[in-house]
This record gives sequence, C-alpha cells and structure tokens, in this order.
Amino acid sequence: MLRVRTSPPLRGVCRVPGDKSISHRALLFGALADGVVEADGLGRGGDNLSTAAALRAMGVAIELGDGRARIQGVGFSGLRQAAEELDCGNSGTTIRLLLGLLAGRPFETGLRGDASLTRRPMGRVAGPLRQMGAQITGRGDPARPGDVFPPLRIKGGSLTGIRHELKVASAQLKSALILAALQARGRTELREPARSRDHTERMLGFMGAPISVDSTGAIVVEPDGWNGRLRATRLTIPGDLSSATFMIVAALIVPGSDVTVEGVGLNPTRSGALDALRVMGAELEVEVTGDAMGEPVGRVRARASQLRGARIDGELALRAIDEIPALAVAAACADGETVFADLAELRIKESDRIAALARELGRAGAAVSERPDGFSVVGLAGRPPRGGAVIPEHDHRIAMSGAILGLRAAQETTIPAADIGTSFPQFAATLADLGAPIETA
Ligand code: S3P
Repeated sequence: MLRVRTSPPLRGVCRVPGDKSISHRALLFGALADGVVEADGLGRGGDNLSTAAALRAMGVAIELGDGRARIQGVGFSGLRQAAEELDCGNSGTTIRLLLGLLAGRPFETGLRGDASLTRRPMGRVAGPLRQMGAQITGRGDPARPGDVFPPLRIKGGSLTGIRHELKVASAQLKSALILAALQARGRTELREPARSRDHTERMLGFMGAPISVDSTGAIVVEPDGWNGRLRATRLTIPGDLSSATFMIVAALIVPGSDVTVEGVGLNPTRSGALDALRVMGAELEVEVTGDAMGEPVGRVRARASQLRGARIDGELALRAIDEIPALAVAAACADGETVFADLAELRIKESDRIAALARELGRAGAAVSERPDGFSVVGLAGRPPRGGAVIPEHDHRIAMSGAILGLRAAQETTIPAADIGTSFPQFAATLADLGAPIETA
C-alpha cells in the first residue's frame, strides 16, 4: 500500500526504467538473432519478465544482469515447443507478439494470462494470422460473438504473406503480423488506419530484417531470399516515456516544482502526451540528445504550470494512448474542461480505463462525464482534490495516476501498490527522491 500526502515542490533530475514496449521487442527479436544480443537498460517490470519467461520456456537462454541483459539468440528455427502453457501474466504485448512469432512455428502452444488479460480481445490478431495459415483456438464470449479470448492455443506452420488493412491502429497487432510475415512465403503489405508506435519497424530494420515502409505508408515485409536471421547486435533501451509522464505531470501540478527526466525515449509516434500537455499550457523543455537504434532519446524538463482544458482526440490521442491516465490527472487540476475522445481502445486495456478514470476523478471531486469513446473532465482549477482510497482494479497506470493526484490532495491518499511493478517498480522511490511525501506501508 502507498500513502501519499500533500506535496512540497518536487525538484531534481531523475531517470526512469527502460521502455516497456521496446524491452519486449529487444527480448523477442534478440531471441531470433544469430548470436548473443546484449541489451542495456532493459525494463524489469512484470510485463517484460513475462516475455522473458515465455522465451526461456522455449529454450532461449536469457540472463538478466544488473542493468544489462544477455540474450542467446537461436533464430526462428531454434525455438522449441514449451513443455507447458506460456503464462503471459498481465501483458497484452507478450501474448499478441508471441502469437505472431508462434504462427510460423511447426508446433502447438498454449497461452494464458491473468484475469485482466483473459478479458482482452485476441480476434484482431487471430483473424489475419489464420488467413496467413496459422490455427488458433480460444475461449469464446457470448457477449462478444466472433472474437476470441485467452486461454488460447496456436498451432503454427507454413504461412503465406497477405495484404491486410488493420481495422484498428494497434502496434501489438501490427507487430504480430510482421513477426508472422517474416516467416511466410511471399510479400506482406500492412496498412493502418492511423500510425501506431513504430518500435518494431525501427528495431527490426536496425537488426537487418527485410522490412520497409513504402511511399503510401504501407509496411512491406519481403522475406523471400532472406536468410531468416536477425543480426546479433547491442541494443540500448531508452527510458520509458510512459513512466516519465507520471513524473512530468507530478511536476506540472505541484506548485513550485522543477523536474528533469533524462535518457527518455522521444519517438514521435509515442510522444503525444508531451504535445497534449503543451496544448494544456505546460511549461516543458524537450531536448533530443541522442539516438538509440533509430529511437530519439533526450531529456524533458517540466516546471509547475497553470494548466487549462484542451481537446485530446484523433492522432494526438493515439500517440498518447498509454499516457491518458496521467493526462487525466493534469486535466483534473486544470482550469476549464478537457475532452478526451476517439479513445474506445482504452476500454480494453489492463482495465476499462475510461470507467476507472471517470470513477477516480469523480471521487476526487472533479466533474466527469463518460462517453463510449472517452470522457470529459472539468478541472478543479486550484481547488485541492479529495484524498481517500484509490481503487486501481489491478491496473498499474490507474494506481500511479491516483498517487500523482494525491500529491495535490488536502487529505491522505492510499493506493494498493502491488500492480505498479507491472511497468514501473521504482515509481514510489523515484517520486520520493524528487521530494514527494510518499511512503510504502
Ligand atoms: C503496445 C501497444 C499499445 C499500447 C501498449 C503497448 C506495444 O497497445 O497501448 O501498452 O508495445 O506494442 P495496442 O497495440 O493495443 O494499441
């Protein structure tokens, strides 16, 4: 349990753990390399550990040393059938990317997850993978006919490339199809309704995979004539902007604060939260200082700011999809109304985040109205939110949002903290180092 009290100004420089999305890919693509891959700064949250455990169960040697991981790449053909079902825990990225990988492997595998993952739809991935030649079965749900849910079984085999228009802009779906396409006969062409995060394209390109983006924006995979192995190379994982956004929003809402986050990933397909905060009047300085495997990396300085309401929708919302819980806290402290729209996907994340945020902000005293694809918040404009007990529903990002909002509350806020380790085990320690009155009880 975390206890948070009204905060004095937050000050200092901090770093955040390795990007969760990029760390999944480093583990998976490292396993497919033609030798040893060393990954610096790999994330150690629960989700990344689920991916590591699944790969180990398929015969990949992975050492998670201090700050550096060592992955013994075995190539696609070196993966072995796991003795038991693969447990993907809470991680949508793990289960969906593994489906793409396993679609081309000539054996059968079971995949399962926790209660939250068991409710998340897999039909969006299973459909096109079946078209390519994989056999996938899973649990049905009478309330959502035509879809399929974990636990799943997949029997891979010989695949054929496809031309496919994704119905949703989803990097997990896109990445699964790319992993299958690399194992298929013939060319695959994928089109997204809008551009989702492109970590997979960047890292696979860096490792020598036959992947490109054509002039129309379609992702093209042409494996014919390729030797099927990714170049073993050193990977450097930038800090996680999703984790950093909690520190940034904390600094923006606590009067007198001045916080810099260093070494953080600034991939533009992922940095919508910074743009949204600027529209809300945030005083941010963003500086790109380097490049890691084609990913821009830099620092973000945030100073306490008078925030105002804004509209966050369309491609901005997509580029900030995981940061909406943190942005909702900024909105709750702002002057005026913030409208979050085009975010139906938020209902099928680790929790129904629209319902959870509407409830939590409402409990804190903000006026919230919920819609199918989003919600609106009228900010408290300087009035302190109410403290009390946050109910995060086992969702790491709802828990961290509750904690950040608690820094402004008049009374103590308590937050069940167990699930924060999914993405940011050092969350409380990082905030405390900046001067926040946060204690683990
Ligand atoms: C992720 C993609 C996004 C994001 C998730 C991580 C990834 O999900 O919300 O936290 O690593 O590919 P969708 O692909 O469902 O949009």
